[in-house]
Amino acid sequence: MKGIRFFFNYRSRDPSIEKASTDFMSIDTIQKVRNFHKKFSQYQPTPLRSLDGLANKLHIDKIWVKDESYRFGLNAFKVLGGSYAIGFYLSLKFDIDISELSFDDLKSPEHKKKIGELTFVTATDGNHGRGVAWAARELDQKAIVFMPKGTSKFRVNNIKKENAQVIVTDEYYDETVKIAANFAIENNGVLIQDTAWEGYTKIPTWIMQGYATLIDEVFEKLKIEGSSTPTHVFLQAGVGSLAASVQGYLMTKVGKQRPITVVIEPHNAACLYKSAKIGDNNPHSVKGKLSTIMAGLACGKPSIIAWDVLRDYSDIFISCSDDIAAKGMRIYGNPLPSDPQIISGESGAVGLGLLAEILQNNSYGDLKSKMNLSSESRILLINTEGDTDPDHYRKVVWDGKYPLL
Ligand SMILES: Cc1ncc(COP(=O)(O)O)c(C=O)c1O
Repeated sequence: MKGIRFFFNYRSRDPSIEKASTDFMSIDTIQKVRNFHKKFSQYQPTPLRSLDGLANKLHIDKIWVKDESYRFGLNAFKVLGGSYAIGFYLSLKFDIDISELSFDDLKSPEHKKKIGELTFVTATDGNHGRGVAWAARELDQKAIVFMPKGTSKFRVNNIKKENAQVIVTDEYYDETVKIAANFAIENNGVLIQDTAWEGYTKIPTWIMQGYATLIDEVFEKLKIEGSSTPTHVFLQAGVGSLAASVQGYLMTKVGKQRPITVVIEPHNAACLYKSAKIGDNNPHSVKGKLSTIMAGLACGKPSIIAWDVLRDYSDIFISCSDDIAAKGMRIYGNPLPSDPQIISGESGAVGLGLLAEILQNNSYGDLKSKMNLSSESRILLINTEGDTDPDHYRKVVWDGKYPLL
C-alpha cells in the first residue's frame, strides 16, 4: 500500500484516564545520563539545524532537525542507549554510583578483576549493535552482535571494525533477538537489548534513559537561543524505545503543555500503529518479512515498556510507505539555497518526507487540520541516522529509487 495511514489517540490528552508512569525519566536521571556521555572524549552535542527556507516554502513557522548522523562519529543516535546501559551495568557491578564513576574507573583493571571477563551480547539491524560494539571497545570489554539475514555488508563491516564478533543469522529481526537472548543465557553473556519483554525490562529501561541526551541537548540549545519550543515532535519508531524516551522527557520537562507527538512507522512493520488501533491496551505484533527500506524501523514487536508510554502519551500514530522516506532523503540531501544540507538515511528521513507530503499533498488536508498544522507550527524532526547504507543511499538520492507516484 502506498501513502499514509493514521490513527488519532484521544487517550493521550484525556485527564480521566490513568496513565503509565514516566518516572524512568526523572530530572535526576536526565542529569546522570548527560554527565555519563560527557565522560567520553568524543562527546559533543550533535547539531540542531534550522530549515528556514523549507519551513517558509511549506507555510509553517519552523523546522528544526536534530542531526544524529554526527553522534560519536557513528552516523546514528543509537550509541547513546547502548553506552549508558553498559555504563550503568558496570556501575552496579563495581558498586559505585554512576555519577561518581570516572572514565578511568570504568576501564580500571582492578575493577575489572573484581567482576571477571564480561561479554556483552546484542541483536541489531545495524545501528544499535554498532553502538554497543563501540561502547564495549571504548570500555575494554568484549561484544558479540547478532544480525538478521539480508543485513548489508557495509553494516556488518562497520560493527566488525569495532572489534566485535558478528554473527548473521538465517532469521528476520525479531527471531534474531531471541537467538541473541538465548546465546547470552547459555554463554553467561550480558544481553544489552534495546527492546523489552516479560522478564527483561531493566536494561531496555537504561537504554531508553540513555537516549535522553539527544532530546535534552535540543531543549538546552533552544533555551540558549531564546527560541520558542516545538509545537510538534515527529518520532520514528521501530520497537518504540526512542519515541518513549522522548515522550518521557517531554512529560517530565514540559508536562501537560507538551508538544503534539507523532509516532511514525513503515507500513510493513507498524506494530505500534496496530496496537493503538486495536485499542485493548496491549502491545500487538506484526508478522512476516517486515520488508521496508527503513531497516532501523523494521521491528514487528513493540518493546513492552515503550508501548505503555506510547499508548498513553502519543497523539497520533502514523504508518507510511517507503517512497515517503525516500522523499525525505532527497529533500535533506538537496536543500533550498538558504538551508543546510543534511545526509539522512532511510530511517532518519521518514519524518521530513511525511511532513512534506502532508503539507504538499491536498489529499491529506483532513490529516493536516486534525494535526493542527498551520503557519504557527514549529516542528522538531530527528535525523536518527546518516547514510548507514551508502550504496542504497545513492540508489535513492542519485538514481531516484522509490519515487512518489
Ligand atoms: C536510525 C534509526 N532510527 C530510529 C530507530 C527506532 O528506534 P526504536 O527501535 O527505539 O523505536 C532505529 C532503531 O534501530 C534506528 O536505527
